[in-house]
Amino acid sequence: MKIAIGNDHAAVELKKVIAAYVEELGHEVENYGTDTNESCNYPEYGEKVARAVVEGKADCGILICGTGVGISIAANKVKGIRAAVCSDTATARLVKQHNNANILAFGERIVGVELAKDMVKAYLEAEFMGGRHADRIQMIADIENRQ
Ligand code: RB5
Repeated sequence: MKIAIGNDHAAVELKKVIAAYVEELGHEVENYGTDTNESCNYPEYGEKVARAVVEGKADCGILICGTGVGISIAANKVKGIRAAVCSDTATARLVKQHNNANILAFGERIVGVELAKDMVKAYLEAEFMGGRHADRIQMIADIENRQ
């Protein structure tokens, strides 16, 4: 798969580790994040990855900031994005299986490297279950379409 990855200054180190790990898992990575520790604004990177996903330039995305929260809130403003902040492996798997999350988000200041890798593997290997879950995702899209 093609994975878009993005981050702000709070997550440069973890981004590098995760990008290399995603490649190790056999995927292609497109880096939309910052690579310096200079203070920057996470909404820009959330939007870049979100647009890459909705425009079909990537199959899904990974976003990392200090907590994973700000960058995912920004990404979720892009129509069609379901970005899920996770800090455990079971949730990272379930957000794909049940919510068909198209972006996994987490925080460098919140999760350790090994947990982050486990979450990424679980998320990338999981498959959307469809059925009743698809109906609920359609309901989310309907909310978006009523804006
Ligand atoms: C940056 O200091 C920090 O606010 C950001 O990385 C993120 O945690 C916001 O949600």
